[in-house]
Amino acid sequence: MDFEVKPTGSGVGAEIIGLDVSRPIAEATRRALYDVWLDAGILVFRGIGTTPERHVALSRCFGDLDIHPVESVRIEGHPEIIELTTRGRNTPIVHYIDEAPIVGRIPWHSDMIYTTQPCRGALLRMVEKPPRGGETGWIDTAAAWDALPPAMKQRIEGLEARFDYVVNILDMRFGKPTGLRFGSMGTQNWGSFPPVAHTLVWTHPESGRKSLVLSPIHLIEMVGMPREQGDALLQELIDHTLSGRFTYMHDWQENDVVLWDNWRTMHTALGTPLGLHRVVQRTSLQGERSVGRVLA
Ligand SMILES: [Fe+2]
Repeated sequence: MDFEVKPTGSGVGAEIIGLDVSRPIAEATRRALYDVWLDAGILVFRGIGTTPERHVALSRCFGDLDIHPVESVRIEGHPEIIELTTRGRNTPIVHYIDEAPIVGRIPWHSDMIYTTQPCRGALLRMVEKPPRGGETGWIDTAAAWDALPPAMKQRIEGLEARFDYVVNILDMRFGKPTGLRFGSMGTQNWGSFPPVAHTLVWTHPESGRKSLVLSPIHLIEMVGMPREQGDALLQELIDHTLSGRFTYMHDWQENDVVLWDNWRTMHTALGTPLGLHRVVQRTSLQGERSVGRVLA
């Protein structure tokens, strides 16, 4: 094999060492990488993303890439890459956490879970690391499922929860960061989406592994269960999943790339202190899977 696989040290995810993306990646290597990804859910590539070309070449090992519908977030010459930056034209969303102003704080979620076509996965590359802050975390929700007591597994399989498109994280019902206070919602234009229902447990279409579907930003309530009873169940599952046992926190260096399987993980951005700069670029993998249902 043209690379080595090393545990991240956190108990979830894996680090890929020694992969050369300066030359075309052989099909056998690509296939082997893909299998490691399916197995681990989260892959860390330290220092590999030195150019947009290398970021895209690595991304293509894992599938076809999405072109973001909003042209202004794409980077010039690479329509597959979007940039998330504190140096942009829009005034950012600001929250206070324990009275410190933070930009770009995004609590635990899976991407696009408020739709019936959540994205397949993504690769995030650190372009400009802030002097402090800016960490990203991932949770392997397949590992969280595996660790549930058998009685709980039996109880929740087939049950549905409702997920809404929640823009202001102050409106979160579950897993809200402590010490959070509103600053401003920024100037970006946010879309709207009808509520959807997803089962609490997904079976991965490729690996066959089960995982928990929680995405606390968007999680509203259990479907068809009295609210008090549903809330108690969801809180128990969230406490279990967010306990830290299934979490990998990435301490970024510039040019690091982290890949995640959005069908079995959640992620969080801890945010950057207001006034410091952070620039990341991201590719997203296409996935044609439809899950859940739109609620009337
Ligand atoms: Fe996200």
